[in-house]
Amino acid sequence: MTMSRQLLFSQEDIQKRVRELACDLSSDYKGSELLIVGVLNGAYIFMADLVRALTISCQMDFVRVASYGSEKESSGLIKMTKDIETDISGRNILLVEDILDTGLTLRFLVDNLKVRNPRSLKVCAFLDKRPRRKTPFEADYVGFTIDDVFVVGYGLDFNEEYRYLPDVYKLVGNEDKNAEGAK
Ligand code: XMP
Ligand code: MG
Repeated sequence: MTMSRQLLFSQEDIQKRVRELACDLSSDYKGSELLIVGVLNGAYIFMADLVRALTISCQMDFVRVASYGSEKESSGLIKMTKDIETDISGRNILLVEDILDTGLTLRFLVDNLKVRNPRSLKVCAFLDKRPRRKTPFEADYVGFTIDDVFVVGYGLDFNEEYRYLPDVYKLVGNEDKNAEGAK
């Protein structure tokens, strides 16, 4: 069996939804300063499109986390490998993530950032895989809700591959990282 991919969200679907999210954010944060914190690596493509569709100004910073586990699932043991470089105390923070899955990564990040006393802290996830939660977690802004499927493209990877695809695909078939046929 080889691995193959099926289109889930086209570039057009994604760009339309990103504009809608940017419109909501622009109105919710109108008149307030905003620092957008992207979670590397997955969120950078979504974040790049999102900030360019905003009609308000914002500042940006990035955080990076590593979670121990398989390629497809975080174990819950999460460690920050790159911290933000901004003092967030008293500021409005929007954490931007590619996908909300078990919720463990965002739970860790929110708890970590909250103790630094931001004025507000909200979360925007491009995708929300609701059936997979291991800890209760609700994002404030969600691009698309998906079933329990493994997805790639638009920043999302499998073994660091496929991030560059402009559409989002469901990955199906053999999970062997050496399998051919997915490209
Ligand atoms: P948790 O489970 O902590 O994890 O919410 C979120 C992180 O898990 C990865 N993840 C995926 N990556 N396709 C991916 O490319 C997926 O379908 C998927 N599901 C979870 C991702 O790194 C995310 O940041
Ligand atoms: Mg990720």
